Amino acid sequence: MSSLIGVRDLVVEFSSGVRAVRSVSLDLAPGERLALVGESGCGKTTTMLAMMGLLPAGATVSGQVLLDGKDILAGGEATMRPHRWSDIAMVFQGAMNALNPVRRVGAQIVEAVRIHGGSRQDGKLRAREVLDLVGLPKDTSSRYPHELSGGQRQRAVIALALACQPRILLADEPTTALDVIVQDQIVTLLRQLSDSLGLAVVLVTHDLALVPHLCDRAAVMYAGTIVESGPCADIVRRPRHPYTRRLVEATPDLAGRRPLTSIPGAPPRLDLPLTGCAFQPRCAEALESCAGSAPPLTDLGGGRTRACHLLEVTA
Ligand SMILES: Nc1ncnc2c1ncn2[C@@H]1O[C@H](COP(=O)(O)OP(=O)(O)O)[C@@H](O)[C@H]1O
Ligand SMILES: [Mg+2]
Repeated sequence: MSSLIGVRDLVVEFSSGVRAVRSVSLDLAPGERLALVGESGCGKTTTMLAMMGLLPAGATVSGQVLLDGKDILAGGEATMRPHRWSDIAMVFQGAMNALNPVRRVGAQIVEAVRIHGGSRQDGKLRAREVLDLVGLPKDTSSRYPHELSGGQRQRAVIALALACQPRILLADEPTTALDVIVQDQIVTLLRQLSDSLGLAVVLVTHDLALVPHLCDRAAVMYAGTIVESGPCADIVRRPRHPYTRRLVEATPDLAGRRPLTSIPGAPPRLDLPLTGCAFQPRCAEALESCAGSAPPLTDLGGGRTRACHLLEVTA
């Protein structure tokens, strides 16, 4: 697979001492759709912000973010800025409620284009194009965010992210605040945009049920690391990490007729060192040795990887 964007051994520690990302590696091919899944607090947003070069001051970052094979993390803001929004764009978690309330939607898109060197005229043309791409009526340009429904606002935020024609879109929980029908519409929109523009998409979500509707591959995160990855349909049907199995069993649309079960306990504190497998304290199948060392992410074949000390359960 030729990688459009690759993350290598990313580690992020905040000034508070919270080590939110502990060696994450990801790859995305042109037009590919990857889901990054896991409970709240496992480091999904931090991983995305690191890829955008938008971590808060004081955060310590190591690893690489390779765009077309070139490390755009190494040179700091100077190497990141030319690529942010024009190659790699992000829909921030909760962004639909963070549109500027006193500026018309069109003006916000024009401004995004002008910041990147386009003229006002370019901006107006592009605003018309992207609003059309996301399925919003022409007159949305002259509307204020409060005049739009939740679903329309999320479409406007996606339009804004597309203003500078990125090749990669990081969509952080883009459906979380929306009702189920609108959630489906946004996922469908992302799929159509990916198909028609060849846009690579990372869908960040805590909701595993959304994933097969949009994505080719999924990576499951726990306590700052990836514990399992593989083709979406495969992961949902045959999860191979105990944590992923628990996530599937806790997801109404995936659990089928089985009774839903929640995952007991809570993820570990990330401001303390972790020894052994991070999931071990919550894992019903854990052996004594699981507390001893962290399991490495291992290739299982068939595009699957897993970080777990247990022998595979073959159903
Ligand atoms: N700016 C920050 N400063 C300190 N800790 C943070 C900051 N942002 C996130 N965290 C912590 O990092 C961990 C991972 O957070 P986050 O990446 O937002 O997870 P997710 O998106 O998976 O819910 C959490 O423990 C969170 O409290
Ligand atoms: Mg988040």
